[in-house]
Amino acid sequence: MKITPRVFSGMQPTGSLHLGNYLGAMVNWIKMQDTHECIYCVVDLHAITVWQEPSELRTAIRQVTASYIAAGLDPQKSVLFNQSQVSAHAELGWIFNCVARLGWLNRMTQFKEKAGKDREQASVGLYAYPNLMAADILAYRATHVPVGEDQKQHLELARDIAQKFNNDFKTEIVAAGFADGIFFPQPEPVITGPTRVMSLRDGTKKMSKSDPSDLSRINLMDDADTVARKIQKAKTDPDGIPSEVKGLEGRPEAENLVGIYAALTDQPVEAVLRDFGGQQFSAFKKALADVATDKLGRIGGEASRLMQDPAEIDRILADGAARARAIAKPVMDNVKDIVGLIRS
Ligand code: TYM
Repeated sequence: MKITPRVFSGMQPTGSLHLGNYLGAMVNWIKMQDTHECIYCVVDLHAITVWQEPSELRTAIRQVTASYIAAGLDPQKSVLFNQSQVSAHAELGWIFNCVARLGWLNRMTQFKEKAGKDREQASVGLYAYPNLMAADILAYRATHVPVGEDQKQHLELARDIAQKFNNDFKTEIVAAGFADGIFFPQPEPVITGPTRVMSLRDGTKKMSKSDPSDLSRINLMDDADTVARKIQKAKTDPDGIPSEVKGLEGRPEAENLVGIYAALTDQPVEAVLRDFGGQQFSAFKKALADVATDKLGRIGGEASRLMQDPAEIDRILADGAARARAIAKPVMDNVKDIVGLIRS
């Protein structure tokens, strides 16, 4: 089994997706469908590392699936499914719990942020989360992982796990027919575009589902009026739009809004500044609201339409899960043989 280029990525179905998810990761997912074999996942097992109301979780899984498709993910071209339908994720996750070291997980900044002060009360799943994420990727021996910058540390851990597995089991890997002793590839993060879309209320914090203020983010399901209102209320500073990139230094809110405009219109920041340099934020925000409502309105509208037929969404997920299982099965068979487990 040679390592072939393969893309894997996922998003958590916790609440609705936002502009950060879209510009930070999904735009790349959609582009990569034309050049790579792609596997895209709704990572529901990751979501339950913090409490999820069961009925809301079910809806969120379908809603995230609908948003993926509405944004341009083609379930024929790519493999699209929810994680819990493919048991290889949890199985390999357990094996990686036994490969990764406590010291590695202790360094994970996302756990520290999410667990907060009351770490004793965090679930064990939240702590072991990065091992499951490594399993998501490596169950398909995926090589490329399009994500936002906040996932970089988790990707580094996945690379460490792949390397340790390859080292620990080198003899067995060679015996299983992998002459170079490499079973798992080193998955590479693909991070381009605005790697961090920031909160509309505070340009130093990333846009996030967990921010208590809904005004801090633009959700993919927001209607046009809501998007326009949130942009209008977005925090800015008293200066206008500069003509050069240097003029954005030390101005996180201005930099964020200009970056969002550039990403939505698929042009460099320099070009946006050439067009808007010298103008006031009021005029720029109006232009930004126009491009944002145009783009997101179409995605939100299409996602709402798809949500009217949940059975069809479930059918798409079941079909994707069957295809994902078929790819993961030979990998898991090899893993079990390499580790020394007996299978029938
Ligand atoms: P999640 O669900 O938090 O976010 C999904 C994707 O959106 C990106 N993202 C952002 N990008 C730019 N600016 C932001 N403000 C912003 N907020 C979120 C994230 O970087 C991510 O790419 N652990 C992952 C899910 C996951 C995964 C995987 C990803 C589980 N298994 C395997 C890749 C491969 C997460 O919590 O993403």
